[in-house]
Amino acid sequence: MADTLAGTAGEAASSVPEYPMPRDARCPFNPPATVRQLTADEPVSKVRIWDGSTPWFITRHADQRTLLTDPRISIDENRPGFPHMTRGRAEAAKVTPPLITNTDAPEHTRLRRMVNGPFTVKRAEALRPAIQKITDDLIDAMLAGPKPVDLVTALGLPLPTLVISELLGVPYEDNEFFHHQSTVALSHESSGQQAQEAAGALFGYLDGLIEQKTANPADDMLSELAARIKAGEMTRAEAATMGVAVLIAGHETSASMIPLGTLALLQNPGQFAVLRDTDDPKVIAAAVDELLRYLTIVHTGVRRIALEDIEIGGQVIRAGDGIIFDISAASWDPSMFPEPERLDLSRAARQHQAFGYGPHQCLGQNLARVELQVVYSTLYRRVPTLRLATSFDEIEFAFEGIAYSLRSLPVTW
Ligand code: HEM
Repeated sequence: MADTLAGTAGEAASSVPEYPMPRDARCPFNPPATVRQLTADEPVSKVRIWDGSTPWFITRHADQRTLLTDPRISIDENRPGFPHMTRGRAEAAKVTPPLITNTDAPEHTRLRRMVNGPFTVKRAEALRPAIQKITDDLIDAMLAGPKPVDLVTALGLPLPTLVISELLGVPYEDNEFFHHQSTVALSHESSGQQAQEAAGALFGYLDGLIEQKTANPADDMLSELAARIKAGEMTRAEAATMGVAVLIAGHETSASMIPLGTLALLQNPGQFAVLRDTDDPKVIAAAVDELLRYLTIVHTGVRRIALEDIEIGGQVIRAGDGIIFDISAASWDPSMFPEPERLDLSRAARQHQAFGYGPHQCLGQNLARVELQVVYSTLYRRVPTLRLATSFDEIEFAFEGIAYSLRSLPVTW
């Protein structure tokens, strides 16, 4: 199947690079050198993944935008040849019910319409005061305690967890439970069985909450889903699955961005000063988009499969071939973002690829932007002398998840 097609890219099978590739420990923010080389020399190429198959590998910004909106590609993980991220994900796909992250139009359009409401710009903005309060409280607690502080545990993990639990209507007391389960469900180190069990535990938990909200609705997303079940617009299983998807997707990503963005800024003091010294919402919004571009934390590629033959970049992707879009490559495509290795908060970076593109583009992007705008601007203005409490070399990155992150970030002031 896909792996026998390596030759169609004009390469001997042995020269197909393994994916994902490790990053250079000296510049861990940069996409791997091979990925950047492929963007320059062979933007439609092939890589070899964990199961030996060789899906197509798309690196350029323009090609990604063309293909990710092409109805001839599918996100249906159960099609033979789909380039799964891990063995665990391949096994989990067999038992995952239809949800926004594994269906195509028209089913995807229907399911996404059920959840668009809480994620509009307007609703994300309405959460800004609550996000500000959560941020202020966490920073108060941090400043009141001993130094140094691990920014991952003080802010990175609790903040998105509090925000997403507020949005969904999940009690914060359960945060350890759902943080643990979502980590297991997504980690590259989990076996198929562990990943399935974790997703199952989250499903059961949210299903129970939806039942409670059917009887006692509140002003939250799970209650909205409960109302849609009552109206016959969706099933209870669909609603609980949607809750799991939002919980997982909204939890890991912002948790990674907060410490990683801080580390990137501390390594670039001039850029740190931009955020520290401004309260201009436009400057803050542009800064957040540049940090999203620079970090593009989803580092293992977004995955699809071709439904028909598609010609792109002088190559023909055959029906049934897997396709990987390395979105960090697109966010670092120099034809779109000159000198991509330069963190420049004044850059027009909004067209970055950190949230993906096309029908599956990140549902939570408005919320994520508001969260990051509040956190970065508040933290550096309130703690203007923030600095690392260790050397850069000592900081441990975590690359095993879908989004890369830091294991800890010791800071002082
Ligand atoms: C900085 C933070 C975030 C980043 C970098 C990010 C990144 C992404 C990316 C790259 C995709 C596209 C995946 C694909 O095309 O296969 C995606 C999809 C998604 N994201 Fe995010 N995300 C972030 C925050 C959030 C938040 C806060 C939520 C929810 C509260 C969320 C919910 C989702 C959902 C539900 C999808 C699937 C959409 C669909 O398939 O239609 N994300 N995200």
